[in-house]
Amino acid sequence: MSSKDPLLQPFRLKHLTLKNRLMTTSHEPAYTEDGLPRERYRLYHEARARAGLALTMTAGSALVSRDSPPAFGNILAWREDVVPWLRELTDACHEHDCKVMIQLTHLGRRAHWNHADWLPTVSPSGVREAAHRAFPKVIEDWDIERIVADYARSAEHMQAAGLDGIELQCYGHLIDQFWSPATNFRDDDWGGSLDNRLRFTFLVVDAIRARVGAEFIVGLRLVVDEQMKNGITREVGLEIARRLVATGQVDFLNVIRGHIDTDAALTDVIPVQGMPSAPHLDFAGEVRAALGFPVFHAARIADVATARHAIASGKLDMVGMTRAHIADPLIVQKLAAGREHEIRPCVGATYCLDRIYLAGEALCIHNPATGREATMPHEIGEQSARPGRIVVVGAGPAGLEAARVAAARGHQVIVFEAMPEPGGQVRLLAQSPRRREMIGIVDWRVEQCVRAGVEFRFNTYAGADEILAEAPDIVIVATGGIADSEVLETGNELVVSAWDVIAGDVTPAGEVLLFDDGADHPGMQAAVAIVEAGARLEYVTPERQIAPDIGGTNLTPYLRALLPHDVRFTLCRRARSARRDGARIRVTLGSDYGDFRAERIVDQIIVEHGSVPLDAVYYALKPLSGNLGEVDYAALIAGEPQRIERNPDGRFRLYRIGDAVASRNIHAAIYDALRLVKNF
Ligand SMILES: Cc1cc2nc3c(=O)[nH]c(=O)nc-3n(C[C@H](O)[C@H](O)[C@H](O)COP(=O)(O)O)c2cc1C
Ligand code: SF4
Repeated sequence: MSSKDPLLQPFRLKHLTLKNRLMTTSHEPAYTEDGLPRERYRLYHEARARAGLALTMTAGSALVSRDSPPAFGNILAWREDVVPWLRELTDACHEHDCKVMIQLTHLGRRAHWNHADWLPTVSPSGVREAAHRAFPKVIEDWDIERIVADYARSAEHMQAAGLDGIELQCYGHLIDQFWSPATNFRDDDWGGSLDNRLRFTFLVVDAIRARVGAEFIVGLRLVVDEQMKNGITREVGLEIARRLVATGQVDFLNVIRGHIDTDAALTDVIPVQGMPSAPHLDFAGEVRAALGFPVFHAARIADVATARHAIASGKLDMVGMTRAHIADPLIVQKLAAGREHEIRPCVGATYCLDRIYLAGEALCIHNPATGREATMPHEIGEQSARPGRIVVVGAGPAGLEAARVAAARGHQVIVFEAMPEPGGQVRLLAQSPRRREMIGIVDWRVEQCVRAGVEFRFNTYAGADEILAEAPDIVIVATGGIADSEVLETGNELVVSAWDVIAGDVTPAGEVLLFDDGADHPGMQAAVAIVEAGARLEYVTPERQIAPDIGGTNLTPYLRALLPHDVRFTLCRRARSARRDGARIRVTLGSDYGDFRAERIVDQIIVEHGSVPLDAVYYALKPLSGNLGEVDYAALIAGEPQRIERNPDGRFRLYRIGDAVASRNIHAAIYDALRLVKNF
């Protein structure tokens, strides 16, 4: 550890000493239960606190009022019974000298009325937000009075729970919906002049201070430039910030640039992989320089070197590495121990954020322990009681994770891989420039494996004989799958798979029909490859929307790449058959909604339909294994060892993981491996 590392220097915020410069900014992982942060929530924050993080800004938009319904699993700060749960979380983090704050908000129009208490949402002028689609009511005087009191009461709850401070969310939510000319057209005391547009903010801040006193930390996470037509300009944003600082009532500013009322806009505030690193860092630095006031900031500062630069160059006082800590909560511990190179990289997949809307909980694409701290380890510490010889077949994400975990547990591990390089499907998808960072999932594991002595045999197609020759105790089949493009009633011989296009094995040309029945990334990656090759694309899907398994921030770059090419999007249609028509292909489309036939004449038909397992070696080994390939799901879920014995002659135990079982995704493959192998 270098004690001179700028990142490891303390920062004094009012009376608080933050022991280093690293924080996680507020982010709602949707781990609440009934709006309360119970054990899962606490363990999640405790993991990073134990590893040395200086400040964890908990929640994400913890709600102060009942007419601000939980849009994404938010903590209900207005509930009094939130206090004991937050106290437990705070005490646990304080044990490790990690300071704890929370973000409070009223979402205003950024929610939908159709859950929780079914109260109408409110906003200054009733302008609808595209992302949440509610038509809000125009806020009234009695709403304002009530909500101001709600803020104060919720802040008091946080103080009672022992938190070190709060942050008010002021970008895209009610407070700044008053600020922005795009959402406030009022001509009464709450609109027009900047004084009027700030009136609600000052009422809130004053009411909070009246309850929590002068010592409690109160900051704002605020937009300083909305970067949109009719939005808050940089000049106005700076003036707002100046006026807030001048009150002497606030202690820090957490700077945001951009707006979040559409998925596309949100993606520029929280950029995903393939987008520039730290795009708003210089801007945050300019705000700090202009105000001479403590400034925090996060936006795709994913690696320690960039974070160090942010502090060393004086752009920030505290640097947020939020998704980076979702990928690896042990960043500070590794940094301080001189193990910086062992940090599990955040590859910007933003599966975490998109899942809070798609599936109701944040999970990291390649760290299955995040959010599962009660059952999954972030680091494999314990050695196996029965170290043995493990053969892993396949070096895709599942196989590499299995090898990594097995080797860390002290097993002797051999990995067979038919290809010259590791990575499987991840290596394939990382060929697209926008998804290049995904290779970090592979590289990190390979490095960990090599460090732990795993033996790799590339260019080796391992059949049953080669595997048995190693006299393994355990065999893990992680052979993945091959593209499944045979979905037509007739004419499958005319079809090319989306994977062939992504791999560059087939060059799209002329008029191309892409039938996407996978609903996930491969279809969209192929679509982009098709238009970028200069072909004209009709994108056909049986779904009601484009790629429903891809969330809003991930879909944005695909749509930005496709829309300039005048792609024809055909929803609710299914490719049924194809036949030759001269030099071209006649495709018949049907629909799940009725017998609605349509014909297209194209130059190519490309199909995405997931994969079929490559399972020959599994079935060859199955009768020879002790467990006949069976997995005890109850033990797997309970985190207990596998003990099934079905064949007394079996010389080894056999398991199959990842897409070698069924077509799924990277998280599923890696989670399969971790939860099985951690008990070997
Ligand atoms: C799962 C998830 C939920 C988030 N929820 C919030 C939120 O409620 N309020 C907020 O201000 N920011 C939220 N964010 C944004 C983060 O605070 C942060 O600004 C963003 O992730 C960019 O920083 P990073 O690149 O270090 O991850 C969320 C981010 C994630 C990944
Ligand atoms: S899902 Fe992707 S962006 Fe989110 S933490 Fe994991 S690696 Fe980072």
